[in-house]
Amino acid sequence: MMGQFMASAQKIPAKMTAIAISEPGGPRVLKPETRDVPMPGPGEILIRVRAAGVNRPDVQQRKGAYPPPPGASDLPGLEASGEVAALGDEISRWRIGDRVCALTPGGGYAEYVKVHAGSVLPLPAGFTHTEAAAVPENYFTVWHNVFERGGLKSGETLLVHGGSSGIGTTAIQLASAFGAYVITTAGSEEKCDACLKLGADRAINYREEDFVAAVKDATAGKGANVILDMVGGDYIARNYEAAAIEGRIVQIALQGGAVASADFSKIMVKRLTHTGSTLRPRTVEFKAAIAAALEAQVWPLLGTRRIAPVMDMIYPLTDAWRAHERIEEGEHIGKIVLDVG
Ligand SMILES: NC(=O)c1ccc[n+]([C@@H]2O[C@H](COP(=O)([O-])OP(=O)(O)OC[C@H]3O[C@@H](n4cnc5c(N)ncnc54)[C@H](OP(=O)(O)O)[C@@H]3O)[C@@H](O)[C@H]2O)c1
Repeated sequence: MMGQFMASAQKIPAKMTAIAISEPGGPRVLKPETRDVPMPGPGEILIRVRAAGVNRPDVQQRKGAYPPPPGASDLPGLEASGEVAALGDEISRWRIGDRVCALTPGGGYAEYVKVHAGSVLPLPAGFTHTEAAAVPENYFTVWHNVFERGGLKSGETLLVHGGSSGIGTTAIQLASAFGAYVITTAGSEEKCDACLKLGADRAINYREEDFVAAVKDATAGKGANVILDMVGGDYIARNYEAAAIEGRIVQIALQGGAVASADFSKIMVKRLTHTGSTLRPRTVEFKAAIAAALEAQVWPLLGTRRIAPVMDMIYPLTDAWRAHERIEEGEHIGKIVLDVG
């Protein structure tokens, strides 16, 4: 297998352009640098990146608040799409030239990235590279947290906060496609309208309406069976109010604060489960299991465009700082992607 790496090595340059975090700070600390092209090790493949997704955790990393896990690239970028450029040892599924997208532990903002083969999936049928780069981080996260951890079932109600985010637009589409009643919150009428178009049954403008009362109203007083929350803070107590008996609340971020005061008697009285997770530090085996589930159950839906990532803006790789400005302004709906060429 290393022979395949050697055979293709002459096509792979020694150096590449990547976007590095020159120091912790604002968007302008994202600067193009010349770096060595990474070499895939056993079980890894090298991807010639054509597009890279931009995610809120990249902003946290840029600010110095979300360091890469041990062994991961210091470059930002949690997802990418492109062609397989080289294979490490012990790779059987992939061939050089295959069009793929991948969850990356970092390093997506670059012309080449190495990833574990278990985090790699084929491009969904008919997808462009920019569309495919918008898929992995959000789909892996939503699949695990909503369906595996939250156990959402057809006929149940999902409340997803931040419905117009990359994560939110994914959760709305997936939950709706799998037969759930979907309620979402967002911060403007325009964002609420976009959520309804994606399949949400009810969209709550949280700046004008109390989401607890609105969820009760939409569910005949029962509440939501699963709540996907990226806000935390005072949403924690309110999620306990909005949850149904035996409800599952899944925490994936704490943008509104990590410390909260809540009435914990709700957990006993309503038999609630409050859980959460972060994806990036999980094992390659764990990520491979999610990839397999997505390929079996979600890739067919992407291939027929029953669902598709919501594309907000595409910027050239060297304008990554503009992409970060856009995500921090908070006006985007769906995904921001870097075109790597
Ligand atoms: N745990 C994990 O494994 C994991 C993986 C990936 C992402 N995440 C997290 O998931 C979140 C979404 O990621 P993304 O890349 O999709 O980000 P994004 O597109 O930038 O979306 C962020 C969303 O958060 C909402 N928001 C922020 N502060 C809020 C507040 N105080 N009250 C209500 N809503 C608020 C915004 O809604 P409005 O604009 O409507 O206010 C916006 O839709 C991020 O916090 C990210 O760190 C977690």
